[in-house]
Amino acid sequence: MIKKTEETNSRAVIFEALMENHGSIVSGAALADKLSISRQALSKNVAALKAEGLPVTSVSQKGYMLLDTNNSDALSPTLISYSLRGNPMFDRCICLKETDSTQSVIKKLARDGEKAGIIATAEVQEMGRGRRGRNWQSVSGKNLMFSMLLRPPLLPGEVQLLNLAAGLSLKNTLSTLCGLPAELKWPNDILCRGRKLCGILSESAGEAERIYYAVTGIGVNVNMTLEDIPGELGSIATSVLIESGKTWPRWKILVDFLDRFANAAGLLFSEGGAEALLALYRKECDTIGREIKVICDNETVSGIASGISGQGALIVKTTDGEKIFAAADVVHLRPGKE
Ligand code: BTN
Repeated sequence: MIKKTEETNSRAVIFEALMENHGSIVSGAALADKLSISRQALSKNVAALKAEGLPVTSVSQKGYMLLDTNNSDALSPTLISYSLRGNPMFDRCICLKETDSTQSVIKKLARDGEKAGIIATAEVQEMGRGRRGRNWQSVSGKNLMFSMLLRPPLLPGEVQLLNLAAGLSLKNTLSTLCGLPAELKWPNDILCRGRKLCGILSESAGEAERIYYAVTGIGVNVNMTLEDIPGELGSIATSVLIESGKTWPRWKILVDFLDRFANAAGLLFSEGGAEALLALYRKECDTIGREIKVICDNETVSGIASGISGQGALIVKTTDGEKIFAAADVVHLRPGKE
């Protein structure tokens, strides 16, 4: 289990004091007094904050100062946990430099009994996983890759609803925070001007009547440039930087998303909440009303996307009648509601 160590607590207290006075010097003596630690222990904790990538400077004989975190791209567990203060669902974050997959990291914690509300981020994934058994490739240190541990009060057949809640929340982050014309393609791809900005994958474990845990993992192309995109993905992938013309602190996108997702999941888990969430999703889903191609196993079907079922499946009107897809790949063939 992830326990808050004395050092993590001290770092959080120091960071909070620096954040409350950011841009001004905070006396080292006052900080050491506040924490009842020696100046040496204080400087070790400050060094750890700097190692997380936070813009903390030491001012000789005086103390420490925090510069503007809005300009910092650091995926820092202290900054992220601080920014999640008001979040009702998430409160802990592990930030890894390198791992096989953040999905595996969170699954292991789930199996070890960790409680819901923890997230893991990574700068690099050696074996990032995508939907339908595919790989998820990303550029080291430029994009946002994370997984969240959930213990949802849902039935195994309802896991798709988590994907829809995550897709809806991410669309809102990318359009509201980043100002992008983000499109939500069923079930949870986010596109911008027809190219993929991010992907979402939910995996779960449980029994017929109960989910033990669900792990929802998200990859957002944030600061990758056109040159970073491998040739074969050039015509289908894009990034927030390419579409908005500016670089983004990844932690801001993460925290904004986690706030929106906590609200969407809170709604989903409430009495009658699934229908309320689906109503929001149907309004925002850009697949509905479009002429589409659905690729499912070895079958390809064309038709008009006409709706989303109560379990989040896609309803398609075809020349052979109505078909329902619980999981599939969708291609938008023509613009629908613009
Ligand atoms: C998709 O195929 O569109 C879903 C991609 C999900 C990728 C993310 S990156 C963070 C997390 N860790 C993984 O291995 N996969 C998910």
